[in-house]
Amino acid sequence: MTAQRWGTRVGLVLAMAGNAVGLGNFLRFPAQAAQHGGGAFLLPYLVSFLLMGIPLLWVEWAIGRHGGQYGHHSAPGMLDRMGRGRWLKYVGVFGLFTNLTVAAYYCYIESWSLAYVWHSAVGTFHDVAPTAFFPSYLGLEEASIYAVPGEALFWFLLTLGLNVWILSRGLSRGIEAAAKIGLPLLIVFGVVLAVRGLTLGPNDPGVVQSPLAGLNFVWEPKPAGLLDPTTWLAAAGQVFFTLSVGMGSVHCYAAYVRRDQDIALNAAAAGWMNEFVEVVLGGSILIPIATAYLGLAAVGAATAGGSGLGLGFLTLPTLFHHWGWFAPVAGAMWFGLLFFAGITSSLAMGQPIVAFLEDELGVRHRRATLLFGLATLLLGFVCVWLYPGGSFDEFDFWSGTFALVLFALGEVVIFAWVFGMDRGWEEITRGADLRVPRFFRFAIRYVTPLFILVVFVGALFKPVGRWGDALQRLATGDGWRFAPDSVIGKVLHVGDARYAWVDEAGRFTHALVQDATRTLLVAVFAGCAFLVWWAWRRKARHGSAR
Ligand code: PHE
Repeated sequence: MTAQRWGTRVGLVLAMAGNAVGLGNFLRFPAQAAQHGGGAFLLPYLVSFLLMGIPLLWVEWAIGRHGGQYGHHSAPGMLDRMGRGRWLKYVGVFGLFTNLTVAAYYCYIESWSLAYVWHSAVGTFHDVAPTAFFPSYLGLEEASIYAVPGEALFWFLLTLGLNVWILSRGLSRGIEAAAKIGLPLLIVFGVVLAVRGLTLGPNDPGVVQSPLAGLNFVWEPKPAGLLDPTTWLAAAGQVFFTLSVGMGSVHCYAAYVRRDQDIALNAAAAGWMNEFVEVVLGGSILIPIATAYLGLAAVGAATAGGSGLGLGFLTLPTLFHHWGWFAPVAGAMWFGLLFFAGITSSLAMGQPIVAFLEDELGVRHRRATLLFGLATLLLGFVCVWLYPGGSFDEFDFWSGTFALVLFALGEVVIFAWVFGMDRGWEEITRGADLRVPRFFRFAIRYVTPLFILVVFVGALFKPVGRWGDALQRLATGDGWRFAPDSVIGKVLHVGDARYAWVDEAGRFTHALVQDATRTLLVAVFAGCAFLVWWAWRRKARHGSAR
């Protein structure tokens, strides 16, 4: 059992904010917002934050601090402590599975940003256009699609090594120290880039439109989005991802908090800090700069897919070119910002795995961090190698979008209904430096679970086109057309013109890579479940059932 603690309260809040503030804030948020009509996205996003994000943060901090008192710093042991059922700990399997599989693809993007810091600083993009660099870096060219991209693998290994090294230094000398350096730096870089971007004027070379048009587009609330379920789904998904809720990660950090130490204010502070960085800073870099040089109309097209990867890694470095001597600095700042945002988040995915190995299986700390590194390497290698085939996207969808919703639903129901809201409320408010509004007691019991349930069902059945039209079609007996990015649509491969593992030319198809990746993910889940089963059996034999 680890007796680790956070060094200071500021350190704890910074570490939690570093957990939440990640690539999601600077790439995914602007892209999702742009894709769903800019300001139309904002209201569903804020409502989701208040009715689902904030309550989930309190629930997760409470479950975490509670579990920590019994020496559990990962989800299976914490949920096991919420009631008598033996099944409870298996809900916690999600808390291992999601962190591990998200870490695999997340560290890969993190490693791109590290590579891009280097290439920006040494001036690679002077000679090679980023639009040519990126595809060859990833191995996207037709001829090399099933080759392992060597340079990408190198940076990935380096990134993983850094993560393992920081984790091995322990909580306060590792994670907390990284957050204390990374978070302030990324905010400084972000402010510099935002100021430079937003002050671009019509006389600056290459500018076609005011960057403020981009800012307006993201920030001006348009109520129309409130009526569109697809916008709601995207907004709720973004709230999940950006707050790191539904992953088992927040729980883990909260488990190192003392029994009577405040969580109510700390959780709110870290959550609001994330929102500030996301909406204010994340909203004022990518979209405004892209708008200034490409025009607002083109920005919509550039964010198709909603990940922001294309805009961030392909487009933005070409735009920095207009900035003359400042271009390499701006590039290094932008990718440095992404790297710091990324690493403080990937550490938060690693720690629960490390803690599980230590707490439940008695693995020594250093060895546990190495095992996490190894597992992430194996899974991440699949993402690196099969990125062009679509493996990465599968990880992102099933682990980074779908699994979180399921886990969040499970944990909030367990918290409010199995643990019970009386004890739950006491747990949230014990030691609180903030008076949590009573409304949230009601919300956690009814509103939040219902909200998540609706999101879950919506994600299953999301139709092609507008929901209204789809319902009408259903009513007139024309059936239901699942969107390619609905859960059922994914399972049925509805996006594929012809479903086959090998195409006419005898080459492996995306469908094969997708199915293979899904099989791998299921196997990883089963593996995590097995470890939980084994750990508890082992403990029962050693005479300490819990
Ligand atoms: N919240 C992080 C982001 O916005 C992602 C994350 C997911 C962090 C899971 C920790 C755990 O990028």
